[in-house]
Amino acid sequence: MKTRTIGDVQVSEIGLGGMPMSIEGRPDEARSIATIHAALDLGVTLFDTADAYHLTATDVGHNESLIAKAIASWGGDTSAVLVATKGGHLRPGDGSWTQDGRPEYLKKAAEASLKRLGGEAVGLYQFHRPDSSVPYADSIGALRDLLDAGTIRQAGISNANPEQIRLAQEVLGGRLASVQNQFSPAFRSSEPELELCDELGIAFLPWSPLGGITSAAALGDRFAAFGKVAADRGITPQVVCLAWELAKSPWVIPIPGASRPESITNSVQAAEVTLTAEELSMLDAA
Ligand SMILES: NC(=O)c1ccc[n+]([C@@H]2O[C@H](COP(=O)([O-])OP(=O)(O)OC[C@H]3O[C@@H](n4cnc5c(N)ncnc54)[C@H](OP(=O)(O)O)[C@@H]3O)[C@@H](O)[C@H]2O)c1
Repeated sequence: MKTRTIGDVQVSEIGLGGMPMSIEGRPDEARSIATIHAALDLGVTLFDTADAYHLTATDVGHNESLIAKAIASWGGDTSAVLVATKGGHLRPGDGSWTQDGRPEYLKKAAEASLKRLGGEAVGLYQFHRPDSSVPYADSIGALRDLLDAGTIRQAGISNANPEQIRLAQEVLGGRLASVQNQFSPAFRSSEPELELCDELGIAFLPWSPLGGITSAAALGDRFAAFGKVAADRGITPQVVCLAWELAKSPWVIPIPGASRPESITNSVQAAEVTLTAEELSMLDAA
């Protein structure tokens, strides 16, 4: 599996997003563990999770615990695995998503995530979503303090605009390792953030890279050009999509979600696909 860089760590070009295994519609645990084990078997070393990937108020951190359990039970060498989690976005249990970007909250949340994930420090801790009631620099200040205290090894942000990326980089003293924003054929408005990450040498992790849990299967129908390139090459539209994202910049590392081993098994094929300039411009225009 080819690798790309997040901060000072090398990870697989394709990561695994954990959300579909822990929110509405989640499968039984055995299927989730099989999915994570399939990813590990294929050489995937980046796993994206969040304390907010759970269903009810009583199972906060469901996905973090699931990923930790699967990694521990896999049986191979997991020393190169990076688990990237997030804090600052909450699910009270009624299906809604809320924000809490207060520094004191983020510090407690990071410590709780570390307990669930195990190890000496969280590999990559991402501020999940800006909280409009808290100055952004204050929330990022919590990440700086967590880095300095050794609770987290690397810091990232999510759902950030270019101004927030620059501010985070300043508050963290140049230690911003990653930005995770929505990016897919259906959602391209994070292109300025992607370009800024490319310019600054910061990893850009497209979230919902296939269009999201309920739309991923129909990608080739919704975007005919992706379906056509896929048919011409005898691969799936989802693989074409991930290869198109990888081609945007060497700093892009997609994190397709999966709740079935077959999905991640198919997605990792994108690391071996090099699209032509002609195909890329057709996909850009789709
Ligand atoms: N930072 C944020 O605010 C934020 C927000 C949303 C998501 N995320 C992260 O981003 C990750 C990815 O986003 P997402 O899960 O929302 O959406 P997604 O990756 O666009 O789509 C996920 C769905 O795609 C299907 N799939 C995956 N690979 C496939 C393939 N090769 N062929 C056909 N179908 C395939 C999976 O189906 P099966 O379930 O059947 O396997 C899965 O349910 C999440 O898991 C989460 O870690 C972050």
